[in-house]
Amino acid sequence: MSITDEKIVNLLDSFYSPISDNLGKFRSFCENDNVPLILRETESYLNTFLKIAKPNNILEIGTAYGYSACYFATTCEGAHITTIERAPHMYDYAVSNIKSLGLESRINLKFGDANGILDSLIKDNSPDARFDLIFIDAAKSHYREFFDRAEKLSKPGATIICDNMLIHGYLTGSTIDPGRRHRTSVKRMKEFLEYLKGRKDLTISLLSCGDGLAVIKLND
Ligand SMILES: C[S@@+](CC[C@H](N)C(=O)[O-])C[C@H]1O[C@@H](n2cnc3c(N)ncnc32)[C@H](O)[C@@H]1O
Repeated sequence: MSITDEKIVNLLDSFYSPISDNLGKFRSFCENDNVPLILRETESYLNTFLKIAKPNNILEIGTAYGYSACYFATTCEGAHITTIERAPHMYDYAVSNIKSLGLESRINLKFGDANGILDSLIKDNSPDARFDLIFIDAAKSHYREFFDRAEKLSKPGATIICDNMLIHGYLTGSTIDPGRRHRTSVKRMKEFLEYLKGRKDLTISLLSCGDGLAVIKLND
């Protein structure tokens, strides 16, 4: 479900084009099989952002089949990507997709719950465990926990991007009642947004791009 008018989404999507044939096929496969992945609008936004920011060390929370991890690795030549997935079947697909695109030397796929893995990365003081871009795209009710850990794992001046911030429009009540399954996510996401609003030390853009993106720049 889109958070904006369908005609507007179609217009925005017309700006999307796959950055490679392989990624185009990968996206079509995920879209046809209802595998979660970044929306076309979100990818179009990231194309420009990544060209400006040129991150070298990227952390992603929420791999699914590995589409966005492969997208980051393909777009940011030479960058290293660490990505975390807790669902075994998603992890297995991601392993094979990353391998079939020949990206396994640049994508470090970690299996397990993100908070535990993030805590062990925080303890690891090596420069490899500090990131200049962190992309949060996992369980929406845990964004605050992911964000707190992401901040600790950031290099000075890093950017943290959170996807699905507006949760299909449920957050504003502009779409129908989310049902019990989403209620906790909506409540916690509202709390997270209030928290971000209070963080005057950060530069934050909340965008109605895709399912809602927060682009958060930390201080240098
Ligand atoms: C929206 S999908 C990620 C899509 C992916 N970033 C892409 O665009 O190709 C979210 C994924 O996060 C995983 N996930 C959710 N909560 C998690 C957690 N606490 N730790 C690790 N993975 C988690 C889910 O299993 C799911 O595969």
